[in-house]
Amino acid sequence: MTIGLLTEPLVLVLFSNIFAAAGRWEEVSKLREEMQIKGLKKEPDCSWHDEGRGLNLHPLSRMVLPSIISKLAASYVFSRAAYLSSCSRRMSNVPENSVYGGPKSQNPDQRVTLNNLRKKYRSAEPITVVTAYDYPSAVHVDEVGIDICLVGDSASMVVHGHDTTLPISLDEMLVHCRAVARGAKHPLLVGDLPFGSYESSSQQAVETAVRVLKEGGMDAIKLEGGAPSRIAAAKAIVEAGIAVMGHVGLTPQAISVLGGFRPQGKNVASAVKVVETALALQEVGCFSVVLECIPAIVAAATTSALRIPTIGIGAGSFCSGQVLVYHDLLGMMQHPHHAKVTPKFCKPYGRIGEAINKALLQYKEEVTNKSFPSAAHTPYKISPDDLNGFLTELQKMGLDKAASAAAAASTSTSEKTEGL
Ligand SMILES: *[C@@H]1O[C@H](CO)[C@@H](O)[C@H](O)[C@H]1NC(C)=O
Repeated sequence: MTIGLLTEPLVLVLFSNIFAAAGRWEEVSKLREEMQIKGLKKEPDCSWHDEGRGLNLHPLSRMVLPSIISKLAASYVFSRAAYLSSCSRRMSNVPENSVYGGPKSQNPDQRVTLNNLRKKYRSAEPITVVTAYDYPSAVHVDEVGIDICLVGDSASMVVHGHDTTLPISLDEMLVHCRAVARGAKHPLLVGDLPFGSYESSSQQAVETAVRVLKEGGMDAIKLEGGAPSRIAAAKAIVEAGIAVMGHVGLTPQAISVLGGFRPQGKNVASAVKVVETALALQEVGCFSVVLECIPAIVAAATTSALRIPTIGIGAGSFCSGQVLVYHDLLGMMQHPHHAKVTPKFCKPYGRIGEAINKALLQYKEEVTNKSFPSAAHTPYKISPDDLNGFLTELQKMGLDKAASAAAAASTSTSEKTEGL
């Protein structure tokens, strides 16, 4: 087969129909983009027209495809594999460019979407989630290709130094959200609704969620709990067009009624409640549910009962994905969450806190013993002519001591430079 054939509008339409029949919507969408580039227009009756030639291709969508066409499609998939895989990420909070022509089409290599996550979930590929709270953490999370970046209300503890997640305000969360949105260009961005910003009514919840998207630049929100009013709030937010991640098990905002940061699902009633709550969140349209601090067996049952991905934290290996708090996994410090130590379930993948201490201590010592800044970190020079002029001016101003200091500095820096 030739590349020429592959790019014929007729063939593009055929492949589009083949992929549509197979439910491979991502490929369909890519092909439709290509068809538009080639001047093919989609008509309201769902057929495709080549405007240049007035060719109506509609009947083709109904034709029975001979096996040769399937073979053609198979090799097309191979030839396009690299291209398609490079296009598997797009902005989730902006429309795909196949429907409306905007000022500029979105870079398709941009943002993880719910579709990408669904695909991973269906193929049983684990979903990776990390929290981030500011621009530098977001850049790091972005760089390694984490699927979801959660701007967690854990910021209250790991960034603001509170004992719980309760004190952080919506406005504080929005500052974190905006900073993360500037740094993380690829992961799906999920913003936590902080305590006190969504419990009063579904209306309050929708208003808060809207702010998290509009002012925080997030793609989706997460809210805790499974009481009927929370389920109703999740439903209202989804109906407002905002993707919602649920959160069951240990819900740190409920520390007051839970009586502390305690694992959940450890007895029959509590375990059943985890499963029921997760199912209820799924029913109202949540795209995923976080399972925090529950036995792995309960997480396995919940994951199996659901048809949306579960994201575990302290919930064992049977979840569809995992999330950890940035500072915990990097070994930044012993943050106050879970009895003032890094939680038992957290594996420290780094000892960044130690590295930071070491660097700060060395800086302090080098400033104290004057080995910093050396000539290597003293980049700005004045030319010999300007130096002479400057010394003359200083003397004219009666600043003889300053002139001698400048002259001495000039000798010592040039000596040091020569010595290097
Ligand atoms: C200054 O302190 C640094 C850091 O402890 C040390 O490596 C260096 O040798 C010291 N330099 C002098 C001149 O004392």
